[in-house]
Amino acid sequence: MKGIILHGGFGTRLRPFTYTRPKQLLPIANVPMSQCGLNSLKNAGINDIAIIIGGENSYKVKDYYGNGEKFGVKITYVEQDYPKGISHAIGLCQDFVDTDKFAVFLGDNILLKDISQSVKDFEKGDEAARILLCEVSNPSQFGVAQLSSDGSLVKIVEKPKNPPTNLAVIGIYFLTTSIFEVIANLKPSWRNELEITDALQVLLESKQKISYDVITHYWKDTGTPSDIIDANKILLSQMEPYFFGIREDQVIIKGNVMVGKGTTIRKGVTIEGPVIIGENCIIGDGAYLGPNTSIGNNCKINSCSINNSIVMDGCEISCGLKISESIISYNTTIKSNSPKNTIFTLGEDNKILL
Ligand code: DAU
Repeated sequence: MKGIILHGGFGTRLRPFTYTRPKQLLPIANVPMSQCGLNSLKNAGINDIAIIIGGENSYKVKDYYGNGEKFGVKITYVEQDYPKGISHAIGLCQDFVDTDKFAVFLGDNILLKDISQSVKDFEKGDEAARILLCEVSNPSQFGVAQLSSDGSLVKIVEKPKNPPTNLAVIGIYFLTTSIFEVIANLKPSWRNELEITDALQVLLESKQKISYDVITHYWKDTGTPSDIIDANKILLSQMEPYFFGIREDQVIIKGNVMVGKGTTIRKGVTIEGPVIIGENCIIGDGAYLGPNTSIGNNCKINSCSINNSIVMDGCEISCGLKISESIISYNTTIKSNSPKNTIFTLGEDNKILL
C-alpha cells in the first residue's frame, strides 16, 4: 500500500504562525505535527509516501523531510497550485498511486492509535474505501457519518448545520483507485473545494462498499492554537523521560521530563513534567517550567514561569511573567523588568521588551 500526506492549504486559523511556514510543520512536543502522520503510516508498513505541498513556504517541508531517508521512508513531493480541496489534492496523486491501494493522512491530524490493523483489514478486503470515525461533541465542524440500524454507512456529509450523528469522519482515509474517477467528476462544494466527504458519498450512492472503524483513542484536528496546546499536552503525557543535558545542583524536577543534549538546567530551576526541552538550551535563574510545556532547541529561559505552552527554537525569555496557554514562535525575545501576567500568540522573530 502507498501513503499520501496532505501538507498544503493556507492554515488561516493558525495565523500568524502560518505566514512563515505551513501549519503542519508547527511543532507539537518538539516535532512537526505532520510527522505524527508519517510515523503512523510507517509503523503500519507504508514506506512509499507522497506529500502534497503548496504555497510559497512549501520548500520548508522539503527541507525538513528531504527524500525521506532520515525517516525510514521514500518521499515523493506532489505540488498543488492552490488548495482546491482534499479530493483535488488526492486526485493529483493518481500517477503516484498507480494501481495500489493507499492511505491518506491529513497533515494536521494527530491520532494516538496504531492504524496497522485498519491497514491490514483494508489490504485484505474488497471495499472501495475504509474510514475512521470518532465521537465528538462538535460534529458540525467535521465530516459526519450517518449509520443505518444495521450499522452500515448510509451518508457522509461535510460540516452539516444539523449533524445526523456525533460521529466525525477523521482525517485518515483508506482508498482504492476507484476514487479517481469519482474525483474527476466531482463538483466544488459551498466552500469552493472538492470535498473528500462528497467523493465518499458518491461511492456510497453508487453502491460501492465503505467500511469503517470507530476509534476511541485521542484524535485532534489541530485547527486552532488551543487545539495545538491540547495536543501538546496529550503527546507529552505519552513520552518516556530522558535526560541528555547537564543538571546543576538544587534543581527540582517532578514528573516526566525530556531534556536534549547540550542543554543546561541551572541552579534554582523547577521543572514540573511533563515538559520537553530541546538541545543546547540554557534554563536558568528563577525559571519554573511546566506542566505540559515544550521548549525547542537553542532557547534561553530565565526568571519566568511557563506552563501549558509551546516555545519554539531560538527564543529568549527573561521577563518575570507567568506565561500560560501560549504559543511563542521561532526566535522570539521577551524581556521585561516589570512583570505582569499575559497570554501570547506570537509569530516568528518578535522582540517584546515590557
Ligand atoms: O480533520 C478531519 C476533517 O478534515 C474531516 O472531518 C473533514 O471531513 C475534512 O473535510 C477535513 O476538514 P477541514 O476543514 O479540517 O480540512 P482542512 O481545510 O483543514 O484541510 C485538511 C488538511 O489538508 C490540512 O492539513 C490542509 C490540507 N489541505 C487542504 C486543502 C483544502 C491540502 O493539502 N490541500 C487542500 O486543497
